[in-house]
This record gives sequence, structure tokens and C-alpha cells, in this order.
Amino acid sequence: MQTIYRLEDLRAAVASSKIGEKTLALVPTMGALHEGHLTLVRRARDLADAVAVSIFVNPRQFGPGEDFDAYPRRLESDAALLAAEGVDILWAPSPEVMYPRGFATTVSVAGLDEPLCGAARPGHFDGVATVVCKLFNQVQPDFALFGEKDWQQLAIIRRMARDLDLAFPRAEAIIGVPTVREADGLALSSRNQYLTAHERANAVALPRAIEAAIAALHAGADADAALEDLRTALLRGGFARVDYADLRDAETLDPLDALGDRPARVLVAAHLGKARLIDNWPAN
Ligand code: PAF
Repeated sequence: MQTIYRLEDLRAAVASSKIGEKTLALVPTMGALHEGHLTLVRRARDLADAVAVSIFVNPRQFGPGEDFDAYPRRLESDAALLAAEGVDILWAPSPEVMYPRGFATTVSVAGLDEPLCGAARPGHFDGVATVVCKLFNQVQPDFALFGEKDWQQLAIIRRMARDLDLAFPRAEAIIGVPTVREADGLALSSRNQYLTAHERANAVALPRAIEAAIAALHAGADADAALEDLRTALLRGGFARVDYADLRDAETLDPLDALGDRPARVLVAAHLGKARLIDNWPAN
């Protein structure tokens, strides 16, 4: 595996990995890798001849007072994990390489970025769309893989790729991979490490409450009632605050009153100790 820090070296590595019409898949990450990321890497290896992983803790997607400084950084051990998975290229730019002096462009996906995490984290998805657009242009992947845990992020990136007619990757080659969970159902996340042992035990209320809400919807419950019960279960289970608990169209993210013909998801963000946990499940 080549670990690359400079854009010119990346361009050379990408060009040589594509010789002979070979395909390249990109897994964008912020590091602090866990089994969820490694699942994306394995899927990428099944899809493409070569795999690139980016590790970049993107300052532009953190708001004031968020956990940018505290976000776990461990490039050396992450690199060892990726090498063991047979990754070809590790792209690890510094903030100065990603955002040189005078950097002035923002990619903004209007509408989809407003509800859910967009309401609680203004500017977050501009930061995500801008850096992912840059990563796509830098690595020029044939495929890009993202976890479905960040469902709104995935919807925004797919919209961006469609709207901008991206060729590397094409919108259809942006692959969402189902969330990897602990044995008790908690979605894997780099932020789970902010939880104390007691909070970690309480965190299981999140997947359980989502599961119960979906069961209630299938049994014919009204969405408002099912989601109110979900919020109550989280607050009773030790969560301090629920940012949102919604039933939404899986693609447009429009709010829904009930299940219909189109794919829908229950999406939740809630605070437990120092962690803001997000999760979502398909509702039909
Ligand atoms: O999901 C993440 O880890 C980040 O939002 C991403 C896609 C790597 C962009 O910084």
C-alpha cells in the first residue's frame, strides 16, 4: 500500500492503478477506522481492481463547538488495518493540501441539506459535499462507497453526482453499504468511543426504539404516534435530547405521515453523554 500526502503523487498513483482499463474504487473516511469502514473496503475490493481509501478529518464539516479537535486521529494504526485489507492507495492529505491559501469554493446541495442533521448542524453538508467533490476529482474513482448509517449524507452525495454529471464516479456507481452493528444492534461509529460504559449500555435503546417504531408502523400505527413513542423510549433510556426522529422518503428525504409505495426510512439523531448518535433503518 502506498501512503500518499501530496496531490502530484496521488495523480501518478491513480494513473498507474488505472493502466490497462483497470477500475478503481474509493472509500472516503475521516479515519478512526472500525469494522464498518473495513466492510466498505472489502466491498470495494470485490467491485474494483484497485482500492483507494482517503483519511481526512475535514474541518469544513464541523461547526463551532463541535468535536473537530477531539475527533480521534490515528493514521499509523489505521494504515496498518488498511494494508492488511490489501488496500492499494491511502490518500492522507493535510488541511493545507486540501484547502490551499485562497480556497474559495463551496459545493452546496440545496434542499436535501436542510432537514434532519442539516437543521442541527448548519453548514455541515456544505463541508461534506465540498470535500467529497474534491476527493472524487482528486482520485477519479470508478466507484465510491459510503455507509448507509449516514443516510442523509449518501442522499446528498448521490444528488450532487447527478446534478454535476460527475463521471468519476457516475451517480449510479455511488454504492451505499448497509450499516454494520454491534451484537446488541448499536450502529458502529467512531463517536461511540465518547460513551462511558454506562452510556454504552444505554445506547442500545436507539436501535431498539427504531425497531419498535417500524414494527408499530407495520401494525398500522400513525407515524406521529410511533415517532413520539420512539422519542419517549430514548429519553427514558437515558438519552438527554432527541434532535429528530422522523419517517422520510428514502431518496427525497420528504417527511411522510405513513408508509407508502416508495422506500422510506426512520431516521434518528439523539444525544447521549458527549456523543451525538445517529441511526436509520429502512421502514418498508
Ligand atoms: O462519513 C464521513 O466519514 C465523512 O463525512 C466523509 C464522507 C469522509 C467526508 O469527510
